[in-house]
Amino acid sequence: MIGRLNHIGIATPDVEAAAKTWLDLYGATEAHAAFDMPEQGVRVKFIDLLNSQIELIEPLGEASPLHGFLANNPAGGQHHVCFEVEDILAARDDMRAKGARILGTGEPRIGAHGTPVIFIHPKDSGGVLVELMQKPDGGHS
Ligand code: CO
Repeated sequence: MIGRLNHIGIATPDVEAAAKTWLDLYGATEAHAAFDMPEQGVRVKFIDLLNSQIELIEPLGEASPLHGFLANNPAGGQHHVCFEVEDILAARDDMRAKGARILGTGEPRIGAHGTPVIFIHPKDSGGVLVELMQKPDGGHS
């Protein structure tokens, strides 16, 4: 069973410009420094909310999986939602047993919070790309 909403992923051509929207227009107060995840082909910047986070993601490199998304949504847009799970391998196997498709090899990768993540095909969730991430040690319950 999924746990807490960890973050909402938003694709953008420019994480710094996008961050300004959430800070200036919506009054979010805490933006973290952007960082690059070359293996995932993204630059990431987190905005803290009272009960969750926004994960701004920008394409990094020619092979970034975000190029296709931004070709269809040039100004950016809502990309995925991420929920915490207790055990990523147990969650993956459970999802598979229920017939869901895991993107990529199905082996968890290290996500932006430093814990293993998987992505579920959007066609299995009504068009929503879902990220499942193993709950950080000492994280929220
Ligand atoms: Co994410």
